[in-house]
Order: sequence, then C-alpha cells, then structure tokens
Amino acid sequence: MIESSLRPRALDDYIGQEKAKGNLRVFIDAARKRNEALDHVLLYGPPGLGKTTLANIIACEMGVNIKSTSGPVIERPGDLAAILTNLEPHDVLFIDEIHRLSHVVEEILYPAMEDYQLDIIIGQGPSARTIKLDLPKFTLVGATTRAGLLSSPLRDRFGVISRLEFYTDDELTTIVTRSARILDIGIEPEGARELARRSRGTPRIANRLLRRVRDFAQVRADGVITASVVDDSLKLLEIDEKGFDQMDRTIMLAIIDKFGGGPVGLDTIAAAIGEERDTIEDVYEPFLIQHGFINRTPRGRVATRTAFEHFGRIAPPSAQGTL
Ligand code: ADE
Repeated sequence: MIESSLRPRALDDYIGQEKAKGNLRVFIDAARKRNEALDHVLLYGPPGLGKTTLANIIACEMGVNIKSTSGPVIERPGDLAAILTNLEPHDVLFIDEIHRLSHVVEEILYPAMEDYQLDIIIGQGPSARTIKLDLPKFTLVGATTRAGLLSSPLRDRFGVISRLEFYTDDELTTIVTRSARILDIGIEPEGARELARRSRGTPRIANRLLRRVRDFAQVRADGVITASVVDDSLKLLEIDEKGFDQMDRTIMLAIIDKFGGGPVGLDTIAAAIGEERDTIEDVYEPFLIQHGFINRTPRGRVATRTAFEHFGRIAPPSAQGTL
C-alpha cells in the first residue's frame, strides 16, 4: 500500500494541529458560504508534520482541484504562467518549498496572488510590451520549513499563515493506531504508544517506523507489534530512548565532544560532520531545541546539561539547563 493511503482526506480525520485545523475550518466554511475562493494559505514548520496533507484536505473540503508543484521545479516565469492559466475557478495551487522560488518567478506571483492577474512581457528591447491576463480566482497554498525564509512581500500576500507544531505522544499514538488499522497491522496499545514516543513528534517518521517494526514483528515475533517488539526493533534501527537517530547523535556529539558543548556556529557544525547546514537547521535542530538539548545563543549553538547527561558525558558547570 502506498504512503498516500495513510493521508487523511477530510479535516475531521486529521489528527492534531488543533490551532491550524480550527482556524482553517472557519475560513473554509466562510469561503464556501460566500462562494469565494479561499484566501491564500502559508503553512510552515519542520518536514513531515502534514503540510502537503493539509493542502490536499483544503482542496477536498473546498470541493476543488489541486495542482501540486514545488519551488525548485518552477524554473522560469513561463512555467508558472502555464500552471496559473490552466487553473479553474477556486482551484488550489500547492507550491511546496515555496522559499526556493526564483526571484523572477516570485515577481509573477505577486499580481497573480493579489489581483488574479498575470503580467506577461512579450517581445524584447524597445518594442517589448506588457500584457495583462485575467486569471481565475484561485487559492495558493504555500509550504515551507521556516516562514523566515520567505521574502516579506511574498509572506505579506498570504491571508492565512499557520505554523505546524510537533505532535504530542497522545496524538501520534492515535495516528499510529489509525495507520496500523488501515495497513492491517496488529499492534497493541502499548506498542503504539512506544512507537509514537520515539517518532520525534512527526507522523511521517511514525508511519515509516511502523512499517519497519512490522517487518521485525513478522520475522522475529508472531506478527503483532508489542512494546517490546518496538523496543527491540528500534534498537536495531539505532533509534534511542528519546527517538534520536544516528544524525541527531552525530550533531549532538560534535557539539559536545569537538566543541566543548559550544557555543559553536551552525556552519562549523555542518563542516565538522559533513552535512548541509540547511538540513541541520530545518530537519534536525527544531526537535533538539524543542526537547531542550540545544540552545540557540547569539554566539552559536550550545549543548544543554540535559544533552550532556543523555549522551553519557559530564556537563561542565557552565552548561545551561536544570541540574
Ligand atoms: N497521517 C499522517 N498525519 C496524520 C494526521 N495529522 N492525522 C491523521 N493521520 C495522519
């Protein structure tokens, strides 16, 4: 069964993100009542929290089509113009990684978002002319890992800006239980809870681990996922008690062992471990910060006392965090 089958299609089936969901419910219902396109929506937050899923749900709830693309794919203004002119009224255009749109493409997007107009330049030199094309009223749903990556003119053109948060263990337990039911996997409540607890607050990770743990359950146990099957399998997958994986450990141990706990700049960490700065900042760091393992300071990243202790190192007296 493919990944998309686990994605909920209706807002009522979407678990967690209560704030974003509550607001969207109102804005969707209001737009439908007025028979208008929904205002443009920006979704931001770490990867795997359900931005694409929400974009699809928005289209479904509005009863319109969705066209999906991503920032780096739209190379030239003509690419975007082709997409925009093919939309039907009230359709959703989903642009993932919207912070990676090129400047020239972004410029096309401004009048399209604001006035539903496309300004096209035809010809070159003195005979070049701008023609304006009317576009159907549409909804742009943009997704990005950090809202701060967007230029402010682009950010300002979204009527709805929603931040997605890491899921609680309870929410992830419900998601894992739902996914297991859809995939016809036997799982005990304690197994679901343990898997949820070690999934970094992220449904995409929980669903991926669910499939891997199912493999272990079928080969090494009697097919049912119990808490101890989860524990044994995650040990083999090198995912620790807190859900940290190999890369989390590499990052934390670099800060602790190579840089004395910091402060150390992100670029220095990136160079030391051979990983991209953006990946560390967007994918790994948010969860480590949320769990009190890394602090951001003006002089760089600092490992907290909790981090030293979790990784079996002795914290220096200067380490921040509770004793
Ligand atoms: N599967 C992945 N994310 C989900 C969510 N937020 N709610 C329900 N099922 C999901």
